[in-house]
Formats: sequence, structure tokens, C-alpha cells
Amino acid sequence: MERGRIICGLLLWLVSVVRGEDPYIFFTWNVTYGIISPLGVPQQGILINGKFPGPNINSTSNNNLVFNIFNNLDEPLLFTWNGVQHRKNSWQDGVPGTNCPITPGTNYTYRLQVKDQIGSFFYYPSTALHRAAGGFGGLRINSRLLIPVPYHDPEDDYTVLISDWYTKSHTTLKKFLDSGRSIGRPEGVLINGKTAKGDGSDKPMFTMKPGKTYKYRICNVGMKNSLNLRFQGHLMKLVEMEGSHVVQNNYDSLDVHVGGCFSVLITADKDPKDYYIVASTRFSKTVLTGKAIMRYTNGKGAPSPDIPESPLGWAWSLNQFKTFRWNLSASAARPNPQGSYKYSKIDITRTIKLVNSVSRENGKLRYALNGVSHVDPETPLKLAEYFGVSDKVFKYNTIQDEPPADLGASVKIQPNVLNVTHRKFIEIIFENPEKSIQSYHLDGYAFFVVGIEPGTWTPDKRKSYNPFDAVSRHTVQVFPKCWAAILLSTDNVGMWNLRSLTAENMYLGQQLYISIMSPEGSLRDEYNMPDDNLLCGVVKGLPKPPPYT
Ligand SMILES: *[C@@H]1O[C@H](CO)[C@@H](O)[C@H](O)[C@H]1NC(C)=O
Ligand SMILES: *[C@@H]1O[C@H](CO)[C@@H](O)[C@H](O)[C@H]1NC(C)=O
Ligand SMILES: *[C@@H]1O[C@H](CO)[C@@H](O)[C@H](O)[C@H]1NC(C)=O
Ligand SMILES: *[C@@H]1O[C@H](CO)[C@@H](O)[C@H](O)[C@H]1NC(C)=O
Ligand SMILES: *[C@@H]1O[C@H](CO)[C@@H](O)[C@H](O)[C@H]1NC(C)=O
Repeated sequence: MERGRIICGLLLWLVSVVRGEDPYIFFTWNVTYGIISPLGVPQQGILINGKFPGPNINSTSNNNLVFNIFNNLDEPLLFTWNGVQHRKNSWQDGVPGTNCPITPGTNYTYRLQVKDQIGSFFYYPSTALHRAAGGFGGLRINSRLLIPVPYHDPEDDYTVLISDWYTKSHTTLKKFLDSGRSIGRPEGVLINGKTAKGDGSDKPMFTMKPGKTYKYRICNVGMKNSLNLRFQGHLMKLVEMEGSHVVQNNYDSLDVHVGGCFSVLITADKDPKDYYIVASTRFSKTVLTGKAIMRYTNGKGAPSPDIPESPLGWAWSLNQFKTFRWNLSASAARPNPQGSYKYSKIDITRTIKLVNSVSRENGKLRYALNGVSHVDPETPLKLAEYFGVSDKVFKYNTIQDEPPADLGASVKIQPNVLNVTHRKFIEIIFENPEKSIQSYHLDGYAFFVVGIEPGTWTPDKRKSYNPFDAVSRHTVQVFPKCWAAILLSTDNVGMWNLRSLTAENMYLGQQLYISIMSPEGSLRDEYNMPDDNLLCGVVKGLPKPPPYT
């Protein structure tokens, strides 16, 4: 026994010595404006190396990704990596509360390591309303060869970025919000930055060999609309969701809410011809539709003009959510390195209930959580905290763990930062009293979405939680007049943004930051601030705090 353990230890040591340092992949991004016409109307787009959407990033777990980003726009810019966990490293998160923006005409390098979150993700610009003009792209994390995934290698692997789309420029849309108005309704829906015309002139976006199975990685990178996605005549076998392998059910169509990602398998086993891939807006009075063509390589014939119908109402979407189950026997790496997947056995140490509201402050539209509408101070919150000058920039805990009784009566406009203790197991309840659907995302974490139900939440609703196989993911939807409950282990030190993924709600304050500090200030818990980290606001010129040890 003892001997076995020693040999095993030696082997592990050998493997780590032989493997050496994890591989690096280097990217240079030139971010510029350029003219694009996704809906046939020329407009200003944000391009990465001349491309809209931006390049697909293909990586394998443990790869170090190095992005040297040249900002050739005329505005400050940041990129964030939706769903990539950045263990101990909120320095690379790329949101206004953690990083100073890359100023026009300069470059900055993000260095991030992707871990065992096998799946489909995307990146996008987190500043202003830049996402409305592009700058987004797919990001894949593949499993290392030794760790099998619960399905056969597909013949090919395709990225499908779906989004609602505005023909107004990002600056015009931002002016609407700054003047207290809404950005209104989008003009169309895009699939990978395009939509098929359906007049016979369309080129196929994807091709499939007959009899083969393909993986499609679907993300909603849009501004506000949930989208229903379907492949004409084909079922989708869902295999992965936001970094977790799930029970493999077949679906005619999937509701993909803003910021959400799914991987599905499609087998080319139908009549060899062209088929439409269709994405259409949900929960909106006017249904907007985007299309793309998938072609069988031996195919003859145009796609049928009969577009499959999308479902109606949000109850359908809630029922679909209830079919999503984690595959507990999948041998691929767990998304949560601390192994808290027997989550219902862990005591909840804190419950934070967040209720969203919409109001008008001095006639201007604002969105809030528990009565505070967040604004980004000039000094990123993380830097203010690290340099020990947070009292000059923001206050912790301006909201309580319970919403105020007079929610929305007098919304405070200020930074919204919660102090959360390291290494606890907490519950966050989102309650949505509005008529519109909410989609939330937390940076730095995956969490268990244990329940979404109509009505208001009370502690006895815990009885209705999924105690067993809730999917560990990084987005959660809250349907109109419903609540959603998530559980998470606060094991990742950093300053992490919890935000509405609806661009308008987020820009107008429906977000907050969760600060999780290492009590020891130790390198075991958090990486040191990179030497070339940009400094701005009140921390500019301050002496650097001593590095962690
Ligand atoms: C970025 O692209 C612009 C426009 O094409 C070009 O003028 C500029 O030289 C490029 N910069 C870099 C660093 O490649
Ligand atoms: C992505 O990376 C994996 C692992 O290195 C590789 O097998 C695959 O061919 C790559 N895919 C693309 C599209 O480059
Ligand atoms: C800017 O780009 C240059 C040239 O590639 C590189 O040497 C430098 O490290 C980059 N600067 C930053 C802050 O990333
Ligand atoms: C879960 O993963 C296992 C192991 O890879 C696989 O054999 C099984 O088919 C999957 N189960 C379901 C229900 O998808
Ligand atoms: C955060 O909360 C912990 C526990 O209540 C407390 O010890 C700590 O001082 C607080 N930190 C800040 C910055 O308020």
C-alpha cells in the first residue's frame, strides 16, 4: 500500500517534470473600425484583425493564452472572456471594475490560463456599448487528450454566434442611454455576423458529409433578446452547457438566452440538400429571424422555405430549463476544482437575495439591484482595494442581503460592491418582479442553478431545489415574475462582476461586484498584480503594495 503510494507519487512527479510548463499560445489583435453591412445597410463595425465577428480562439485546458491587443478605436477599450474562470486572477477579467481601459492608440497584453472547463465560451468588448458593433468571437476549451469527453470525436466542430442586431452605431445607442432613453428594438438577427437572404444567392455557412456527426457551438452574443435556435429537419443532441457535460437529450429547438452557450451534436442523416439554421427572437412582439445555410456535401437542392416555427411564451422556456441535467458520470474534468459537486450536502452560510428594479431618476432610465444602481468609478474597484485606497473610491455593502421594502422608491446611483468571505458556500436568489426576462452572469465562477420557479422566493422554496444534478454553469435566467436560485463555493479570490447580460440594463446599473479577499494576502489564493498592469484614477503614481508571498 505504502509502496504503491510512493511509486504513484514518483510517477506523478515524472509526469509533471516531463510535461514541463503548460503551452503558450500568442495572439496579436489589431482592433479597428471598419464598414460592415450585416443587414444590407453599411454601418460602422468593430473588427479584430479585419474580421467581424472576431477570430475563433481554439485552446486546450491548461493552455496559457496571451493576447496583445492594439486599440485603434477612438475610445477606451476592454475585452472580457465570458465564462472563463481566471482562477486567482481577476487581474485578467477585463471589465471596468477590475482593469483600466486600453487607451486609444496603445496596446495591452492579457495573459490568461484556461482550466478544466471543457466547452464553448466567447469574448466581447466590455466597455461602453461596443458589443453592439462587434468585437466578439468564439472561444473553445478542448479537453486534454487523456481526459475523454462523453461523446465520439465529431467530424468537425463549428461555432455559431447568434445575436440580435442594431443598425445604429454603438455611439448613437450609447447616447440614447446617456440621455435616459432605451435603445429600443433591434433591426435583425445575425448568425456569425450574417443572415441568409433566401433568394437562392446564399452560400452555405457550414457543410456536412452524409452520415457524419458534427459539433455546433452555439452562443448568444447579442444585446438583449433571447433567441430560439433550430436546425431545419434535424434534432440537436445537447452535450455541453457553459463548461459542463449534460445528460444528452435531443431537442427540436433551444432557447439561448443572452450570454448563454450550448454545444450540440447534429448528424447528417436526412435527404442530402440544403437546410436552414434559424434563430429568432423570443418574448418580443415582432419576431425577428436570422438564417444560415448548412449543406450536405453530396447535396442537391435549395432549403425548403418552410421555416420551423418557434415556441411561444416563456413557460416553454422554463420547462426546457428543467430538462437540463448535469451528467454525473461523465469522466471529463469537473468545472469546479474544489469538488463541491455534492452541493446539497454543504451548509449554506449566507443567502443574498437580489431584486431588480427599473425606475426613472431625474427623468432618466436606471436599473438597480436592491435599490442601488451601479456606476463604474474612474479607478477600477480591484485596484482601489489592492492599493488600500478603497475608501477614496467606494463603500462596501451599500446594499443589504435582503431587498429594501421600498424597492425602486429612491434608487442610489453609486458603486455596488459586496464583501463576501473567502471559502464559504453561499446562495444567491434573483427575484424578478418585472415583465421582461433577466439573464445574469458572474465572472470568475461556475455555480449550480438549483431552481427557477414562478412567484417570490421564501426559504421553504429550498424544498423545490434540484438537490442532485443541477448544471454547474455561469449564466442564469429569471423569467418574468419568477425567482432563480444559485449555489456557489466562494473559493476564487478576486473582484468579480455579477451583471445583467442585457447590455442596456448593465450599462444603466443592473450589476454589482463581489469582492472576495484572501485573509492572508497569500500567493496561494491570488496571483500578484502583473508588473505591466495599467494604472489609472487615484492609484496612478501610488507606490505598489508589496507582492504576495
Ligand atoms: C491596424 O490596422 C490598421 C488599419 O488597417 C493599420 O493602419 C494599422 O497599421 C494596424 N496596426 C497594427 C499594429 O497592425
Ligand atoms: C483545436 O485544437 C485541438 C487541440 O489542439 C485540435 O485537435 C483541433 O484540430 C483544433 N481545431 C481547430 C479548428 O483548429
Ligand atoms: C505592446 O506591443 C509590443 C510589440 O508587440 C510589445 O513588445 C509590448 O509588450 C506590448 N505592450 C503591452 C503593454 O502589452
Ligand atoms: C454521461 O456520460 C457517460 C460517460 O461518458 C456516458 O457514457 C453517458 O452516455 C452519458 N449519459 C447521458 C445520459 O448522457
Ligand atoms: C469583509 O467582511 C469580513 C467579515 O465580516 C470582515 O472581517 C472584513 O473586514 C470585511 N472587509 C472589508 C474590506 O470591509
